[in-house]
Amino acid sequence: MQKKLYIGTNTKMYKTIRQTVAFLDELGSLTRDIDRNLLELFVIPSYTALDAAARTAQAQAITLGAQNMSWEDEGQFTGEVSPLMLEETGVRLVCIGHSERRHIFGEDDEVENKKVLAALRHHFTPLLCVGETASQKELGIQNEVLRSQLKVGLHDTSPEQARHIWIAYEPVWAIGVGGTPAGVMYASRMYTVIRQTLREIYGGEAGDRIPILYGGSVNNMNARELIQAPDIDGLFIGRSAWDADNFSRIIHDLVDICLIK
Ligand code: 13P
Repeated sequence: MQKKLYIGTNTKMYKTIRQTVAFLDELGSLTRDIDRNLLELFVIPSYTALDAAARTAQAQAITLGAQNMSWEDEGQFTGEVSPLMLEETGVRLVCIGHSERRHIFGEDDEVENKKVLAALRHHFTPLLCVGETASQKELGIQNEVLRSQLKVGLHDTSPEQARHIWIAYEPVWAIGVGGTPAGVMYASRMYTVIRQTLREIYGGEAGDRIPILYGGSVNNMNARELIQAPDIDGLFIGRSAWDADNFSRIIHDLVDICLIK
């Protein structure tokens, strides 16, 4: 059976409500020809756009996600957004532990674990992001870093819950302006480390089912190459996806490749 391809974007702190809705509309029309049984297309906009974007996303068969979430349902946590609030917006996916959350806002693996557990409790799909920094890579401890991010981040989750978990491998040195995309060989080795760790945590069958996505300076030139590795299920794209027309070109390219993979 043809494996499903996961492709999505996180619009970070870009796009207003109006821009997000227009983006979803355009992206939906440009990708309408692609069978959604083959493609899981997701967009993760800013919190303020979620409510307005929900109806458009649904009409366009695009899964909507939130960029972050509190692990608490309610309380005295100024500036946080609770899972109960996200439930009201129709969000299905929650991005947890994005490298910008970890490295700019100081979130650690224990915090990500609380968020993963809260997301599962509220029937969201947590998209847990993992990835080593440049200095961890230089020290040669990338395997250990990924293994501990996964083991701590997914602590106390069951093989049954693993059905709803997605993982994004996003090396910190590859993300954003000034990032260098990971080489295919290197990324493939890291997907294998991630896959083996997921098997260790959940057992073979449940571990094998979890989609692993790559993110970090994906563009029109390298997307085809990056999707070719055996353990990869999709791509999580920033800058190159924010123009719907360009994103649609990447998606069509990847769908063509994966149909013959
Ligand atoms: P870029 O593709 O802009 O490097 O961002 C990737 C990312 O952070 C996806 O979450």
